[in-house]
Amino acid sequence: MTAPAEQARLTLNTGATIPQVGLGVFKIDDDAECERVVLDALELGYRHIDTAMIYRNEAAVGRALAKSGIPREELFVTTKVWNSDQGATETPAALATSLELLGLDYVDLYLIHWPAPTRGRYVETWLALEELAAKGLSKAIGVSNFEPEHLEAILEAGNVVPAINQVELHPAFQQRTVRAFGEQRGILTEAWGPLGQGKYELAELPGLNELAQKHGKTIQQIVLRWHIQEGVIVFPKSVRKERLAENLAVFDFALDAEDMAVMEAMDSGKRVGTHPDDGNW
Ligand SMILES: NC(=O)c1ccc[n+]([C@@H]2O[C@H](COP(=O)([O-])OP(=O)(O)OC[C@H]3O[C@@H](n4cnc5c(N)ncnc54)[C@H](OP(=O)(O)O)[C@@H]3O)[C@@H](O)[C@H]2O)c1
Repeated sequence: MTAPAEQARLTLNTGATIPQVGLGVFKIDDDAECERVVLDALELGYRHIDTAMIYRNEAAVGRALAKSGIPREELFVTTKVWNSDQGATETPAALATSLELLGLDYVDLYLIHWPAPTRGRYVETWLALEELAAKGLSKAIGVSNFEPEHLEAILEAGNVVPAINQVELHPAFQQRTVRAFGEQRGILTEAWGPLGQGKYELAELPGLNELAQKHGKTIQQIVLRWHIQEGVIVFPKSVRKERLAENLAVFDFALDAEDMAVMEAMDSGKRVGTHPDDGNW
């Protein structure tokens, strides 16, 4: 088990810190299972949970957080406003509902889940997030699935620079442009689908098996370690306790420059998910 103190943390542009490895709970739909998985993760040393209104499991996450007895200040909890809740009045109401379901007074990070550009409301929603942060209902605010053009629009209209942009990011889709845009502006990148969501065979990526053998780690651990060394925040999802442990055990080895070059060469620019301009559900 990796004790929380041994895990890396990154500093957000708010000054707060975020554990670089967390647990994502997308598609853990069953209430009891979600509660069990979050409790398993917390027991293993995870302190960072990434959920969203649309995952419909905030109540289960909240129950696990409460049952764990872990002091609130040791936890980092993220949730996200769904597309249909975007807007000056809708978004504050959505966060109030999320907080009630989570059983929390505040979240550590509140994200606009998708820009949903055809709805035309993400700038207005960003301004609402700024007010929610000013009220202390979210310690930090950010966005998800934002391309540079969407970021430009909120930077232009708003007063707060997003702390985070959470985007699809894995070896076959490395998001160099979006990451460079964020780096220049103090926006940290979070990877969703850090393992490619299981939608392609990691083992078929050239050189990955060899890196796993070289370091005596699994291919998933190599991929997660690469994310960490790239300064990216990850929250791989697993319902299996042994995999939760495996995904956290990535702080006792390092990839060298040659290994990192092998990882970099895996970028084929192929998404496994939706393009942000098309995520208008
Ligand atoms: N902002 C967004 O639009 C957005 C979109 C998607 C996801 N997310 C967030 O990102 C989180 C992570 O992404 P994701 O869940 O989509 O995909 P992911 O973490 O890349 O992959 C999850 C898949 O990998 C398997 N897995 C996990 N650890 C493994 C290991 N050590 N060895 C082998 N297989 C392993 C899981 O299976 P088992 O569960 O069976 O172990 C599951 O099938 C989500 O949970 C969510 O919080 C955000």
